[in-house]
Amino acid sequence: MPKPNEQFLTAIDVGSAKTCVLVAEFTENGLRYRGHGLADSRGSRKGIIVDLERAVATIQKAVERAEDSAGIPIEHAFLGVSGSHVRGVNTHGGLVFSRAREIGREEIRQAVDKARAIPLPPDREVLHLLPQEFILDEQHGVHDPLGMIATRLEVRVHMITAATSATQNVITAVNRAGVHVDDTVFEPLACADSVLRSDERELGICLADIGAGSTNLVVIQEGAVAHSAVLPVGGDHFTSDLSVGLCTPLIESEKIKKLFGNAIVTLIPEGNEVEVPCVGDRPSRMVSQRLIGEILEPRARELFEMLRENLRHAGMLEVCAAGVVISGGGSRLPGLMDIADSVLRKPVRMAWPVPIAKMPSALAEPEFATVLGMVVYGHRARTARGALDERWSSKLKSMLVGKGA
Ligand SMILES: Nc1ncnc2c1ncn2[C@@H]1O[C@H](COP(=O)(O)OP(=O)(O)OP(=O)(O)O)[C@@H](O)[C@H]1O
Ligand SMILES: [Mg+2]
Repeated sequence: MPKPNEQFLTAIDVGSAKTCVLVAEFTENGLRYRGHGLADSRGSRKGIIVDLERAVATIQKAVERAEDSAGIPIEHAFLGVSGSHVRGVNTHGGLVFSRAREIGREEIRQAVDKARAIPLPPDREVLHLLPQEFILDEQHGVHDPLGMIATRLEVRVHMITAATSATQNVITAVNRAGVHVDDTVFEPLACADSVLRSDERELGICLADIGAGSTNLVVIQEGAVAHSAVLPVGGDHFTSDLSVGLCTPLIESEKIKKLFGNAIVTLIPEGNEVEVPCVGDRPSRMVSQRLIGEILEPRARELFEMLRENLRHAGMLEVCAAGVVISGGGSRLPGLMDIADSVLRKPVRMAWPVPIAKMPSALAEPEFATVLGMVVYGHRARTARGALDERWSSKLKSMLVGKGA
């Protein structure tokens, strides 16, 4: 059982559209919802802070709301990291011994160090080292080599890196809002914890979190992360296309998208008209609802063509045998799944987060899958740390924590 001060776990998702703080409680029966706070994001865009003061004020607001709702002060939290500055790369390394020997912690640590020893630009830091497999002599697919005998130990690792300054600025904003950051997590990795089923993680699946500013994705196969990437398109690009195409302010095009948007033109009945306010002081006009679809459909195709090319380039199209799961607010656009289906030619489903006990139904939506996944991930990380304390060095602990359940 966690110590009293570890009874609660808080996750903070500083998004481009919304900032969400979720507090969960450890109980004997697992995680239980304790409270949450939401605020419209100001000062953060695509995973980076663009206005520190406004970002701090937003985080403060969301934290205060979560404190009121949970009835406890929030001092520590897990923080999500996302956006175009994040990169994923597969790497490997290993050791050859003069004769067969038992693999201990030190050997594993050295093999992992060899795998991570690729040159990184000075402004980048390692966010996750996620083991895919250990290879002992010729034997592939070993999950835990500790205590086994070999003359050669290799490890294949998926390494996720982030721009140090971008990550540090989000941490600073959270610190200034009065909360210490215990750990950071690449958001779709955490999201995967709340939406993917174990058979999907085994067979091979892509989770794409379509946020406001970008689409963050991970591919998981045989329970390990095979690929991660960020595409520079999110829901807000659909909104700004509408703004330009309909000559209407962003605030209006956002409303129109949510009320009348569809990514498939032919699903919109012919003859429907929608009132569209104009920019400036010109009077509003009636436009055909189909025009909205004509603007949104190409953007939807572009997004999934980008995803397809990203997966193809990484050799991941075949790996995703269980298809693609889409989460994030951007995934809610009607018709989007059908476009994804037709472009990717794979099964596509929406991500409905697995609820935690006592959670209000309002959180059971795709845009909260990430923050929910973060508390599940944080719970798993803490539990894994406890269990692994005796056997693993701290580097290996953080590495192993990222491995799929
Ligand atoms: N019903 C809807 N139809 C279409 N788009 C929607 C709908 N609801 C929300 N969105 C879009 O989802 C996006 C917000 O999603 P989300 O809350 O997941 O973003 P975020 O986490 O704040 O951003 P990011 O992950 O990029 O930092 C916005 O672009 C919004 O317009
Ligand atoms: Mg998000």
